[in-house]
Amino acid sequence: MNDSNQNRGQWSSSVGFIIACVGSAVGLGNIWKFPYITYENGGGAFFIIYLIAITLVGFPIIISEMVLGRHAKLNTYGTFKELSNNNWFWKLVGLLCIFSAVTILSFYSVVAGWTLDYFFNSLVGNFQSLTFENAGPRFGEFVGNGEKQVLYHTIFMFLTAFIIYRGTKGIEKAVKILMPVLGILVFLIACISFYTYGASDTISFMFNFDFSKITSHGVLEAVGHAFFTLSLGLGVMIVYGSYLPKGFSLVRAGIWITIMDTLIATFSCFMMYPIIFGTQMEVKESAAILFTTLSVQFNALPMGNVIAALFYLLVAFAALSSTISLLEPLVSFIDETYKINRKIGTIIGAVGVWIMGIASALGNGASEFFTSLALMDKLDYFTSNWSLPVGGMLISLFAGFFVSEKAKRDEFTETENKVFFKAWNFTIRFISPLLVLLVILYKIGVF
Ligand code: PHE
Repeated sequence: MNDSNQNRGQWSSSVGFIIACVGSAVGLGNIWKFPYITYENGGGAFFIIYLIAITLVGFPIIISEMVLGRHAKLNTYGTFKELSNNNWFWKLVGLLCIFSAVTILSFYSVVAGWTLDYFFNSLVGNFQSLTFENAGPRFGEFVGNGEKQVLYHTIFMFLTAFIIYRGTKGIEKAVKILMPVLGILVFLIACISFYTYGASDTISFMFNFDFSKITSHGVLEAVGHAFFTLSLGLGVMIVYGSYLPKGFSLVRAGIWITIMDTLIATFSCFMMYPIIFGTQMEVKESAAILFTTLSVQFNALPMGNVIAALFYLLVAFAALSSTISLLEPLVSFIDETYKINRKIGTIIGAVGVWIMGIASALGNGASEFFTSLALMDKLDYFTSNWSLPVGGMLISLFAGFFVSEKAKRDEFTETENKVFFKAWNFTIRFISPLLVLLVILYKIGVF
């Protein structure tokens, strides 16, 4: 352990740590992305593959990342460097992780900005005239408006940088209150949707296991999303784990993160699908369903605009607790590798990501050039489906084969060592990496 480790930040409590990790995991991936990719991939079979991936790949890898981070007490790159004795390949993997985080943040911040627009407009009552027919075109117009897109992207990157700059204590407190409120609201809205439009279509859609509907693309997407939604494969959990004092149970944290994340994702589908099936609205752009279903449905509720505003605000918060976790790996890397002051590192990092994000902000109709590049879709596809699974597979192998058993055992409690360690160690050595590899080979068309 080197000296600089002594000055590193630490989580205030184990609950604070779990909350921050849940904050990172729960975000647009659950509320915006999961419902739409599940919808596109035909429901049931996709959902099951996703659940298998969460259990056999996601959960063991969360623990691996935290074990690595807490053991090394360094940023992602530093962790690989230190634990591999300066091996060039593993250092490259560390850099790949940081690259993935930066790339995701660049487009994630744009989508996060959309929630701000929906918050403001709901609050002032502008959405009272929305119907299931005009909600789609309104959304299209909005994402095609360059000034607004850049403005909201800027606000979101600014908020993210501001929190990283000031330290994470404030966000820990905010997330502690807001996350449970979001969870309750998602649950209540799902109940209202079921009550209004009936549950049967949604349930049969989500739980019909018709595997003939699934394509190799869908399998890769389900596995890729398991990484995305749990914030895995890019070292976020390595960095968060590195701020964790000894003695907190990583297994307990892993269980909480996995369960909360999966519940919110599932209930997000339950909020939107009954509306889609019940009203038989036309879904032209499934990526828009978070905005085109609920914004209209809220109108039917008493004080609908206030509830809508609250909902989109909470989603913005969920996104913010994810964006800060996406910026942190870069900032801690700059800080610890180049010994640049953390605050300056934050500014350099945030400005860089902000510039990258402009391409996504202008790529939904605002600029012909950027729209033809369709960078947002491509970056999302490439990171979620390729760089995160490959990163996760390598992290799993690294933790499995390159870290001594004694070092790993040290990160677990006594009971966990007895009942859990062997199964986990076996899974991250053989099962999780192999499953990811099989999925990749299947996608490439090897079998
Ligand atoms: N897990 C976050 C979500 O579901 C996104 C994210 C991905 C955050 C990777 C950090 C790292 O929205």
